[in-house]
Amino acid sequence: TTQNRIINVSNRLPVKLAKEGGTLSFHPSEGGLATGLNSLLDSYESLWIGWPGAVVEDAKKQEVKDYLMNQSLFPVFLNQEEVDKFYEGFSNETLWPLFHYFPTYSIYKEDYWEAYVKANRKFADAVISMAQPDDIIWIHDYQLMLVPSMIREVLPDVRIGYFQHIPFPDFEIFRSLPWKTELIEGILGADIIGFQTDEDVRYFIRTIEKVLGKPCTEDGLTIGNRSVVVKSFPISIDYGKFRSLATHENTLLNVSRIKNIIHTKIALSVDRLDYSKGIIQRLKAFDLFLSRYKNWHQKVTLIHIIVPSRDTVSNYKELKTEMDQLVSCINGKYASLGWQPIHHYYQSFDPYMLSAFYQCADLAIVTPLRDGMNLVSKEYIACNINKNGVLLLGEAAGAANELHDALLLNPNNSDEFARKIYEGLNISSEEKQKRMSRMQQVIADADIFKWANSFISKLLSIVTDRSKKT
Ligand code: UDP
Ligand code: G6P
Repeated sequence: TTQNRIINVSNRLPVKLAKEGGTLSFHPSEGGLATGLNSLLDSYESLWIGWPGAVVEDAKKQEVKDYLMNQSLFPVFLNQEEVDKFYEGFSNETLWPLFHYFPTYSIYKEDYWEAYVKANRKFADAVISMAQPDDIIWIHDYQLMLVPSMIREVLPDVRIGYFQHIPFPDFEIFRSLPWKTELIEGILGADIIGFQTDEDVRYFIRTIEKVLGKPCTEDGLTIGNRSVVVKSFPISIDYGKFRSLATHENTLLNVSRIKNIIHTKIALSVDRLDYSKGIIQRLKAFDLFLSRYKNWHQKVTLIHIIVPSRDTVSNYKELKTEMDQLVSCINGKYASLGWQPIHHYYQSFDPYMLSAFYQCADLAIVTPLRDGMNLVSKEYIACNINKNGVLLLGEAAGAANELHDALLLNPNNSDEFARKIYEGLNISSEEKQKRMSRMQQVIADADIFKWANSFISKLLSIVTDRSKKT
């Protein structure tokens, strides 16, 4: 829909650096933001500004920059203190827990805040140094809430969008932040502010009214001569890419390897290590399921994939310990010769293996306590070529607003959870086909390209109206 160049700005780039010994290596990033936006790179003229995921010593910076710039990725380097206080600190120990309704996990520290302001300034400066007047500047996620206004101050006429991939909480939660006014004013530098769900939009609008004492409606608000629009844009996946991935020969090879090794039904879960994902609740429910439905012993295996994430942050470290203990405890309790109830992986997989797991899963258990959207649920549906799978989905995931044919549940209700695992494993083939076809249609009709196009065309229309007015 646009000939203009898009400058995507996010904390995480789609490529991350790892240092093994003295040598640097590059790996694909995990997480919905990186995997989602990565699908768009071939369709737009674009530049992506972000952090390459590791502290790089001065002598290596040029080499890293050259490598990334070759792929239109522009690195913003963070030093160790910025990683500690901006990324792990304010982003993931203050905002992340609060926005996912874990207020007691949130830490309010002045030096985290100062680091957040400084790091946001660094990203804004990088954008300012690269931006051309016709570019569309698209800022992503909670790590960069101040960047829209920082850019607006220097480039008053440029087009700026902000999209938040994680939930926006109710005002009663948001108000605990000592810096709530600064954060809201930071985002309002954008022309359009996008969220995953209508609920997020409602909470944000009420927060603006409470914080600024200014009226704000579904159409947004006016700041000086600018209209700011607030709207929901549920993110999706590259449906076509996942469909062809699912039938790729490498994937099919992996499918037969899995089936040769696991002869039971397969339940699958795939999450980053994160307390918002409901990992503990799911393990406990699986335990309860096995204790109740003994006829399912030796007949079902849970493939439990946890992708390492933020594991230097203390709440994540503690979660890992608790998870490891539970997995080992459940396996110890129920295993028998030739059957281990949980196959636990603490690692990431390449797309051919991931899509093979999706394809083999009779039941996907995607049960976050809170999630902005959750792309894993959509990827599972896309890869379920034979339409013989069932999706168990937590009702507080953004995806639950679209996937009405999933079995929805409250992951805190372990009784209901155990029962739904049982139900999911017992659904008739006709019913599975019917539900899966409908869900596949939903995602095919609303893929990531539709998402990006609708965000960008809305942004362009607002700014066109603005230039007509002046
Ligand atoms: N993912 C990955 N490698 C893995 C497992 C998962 O790249 O080994 C990806 C997965 O394909 C999905 C993303 O990580 O696109 C997770 O996104 P989601 O929206 O489900 O959750 P988030 O991690 O963003 O909270
Ligand atoms: C979620 C967030 C992203 C983040 C990703 C992975 O998807 O919305 O902003 O990039 O998790 O987390 P990480 O901290 O590794 O970037």
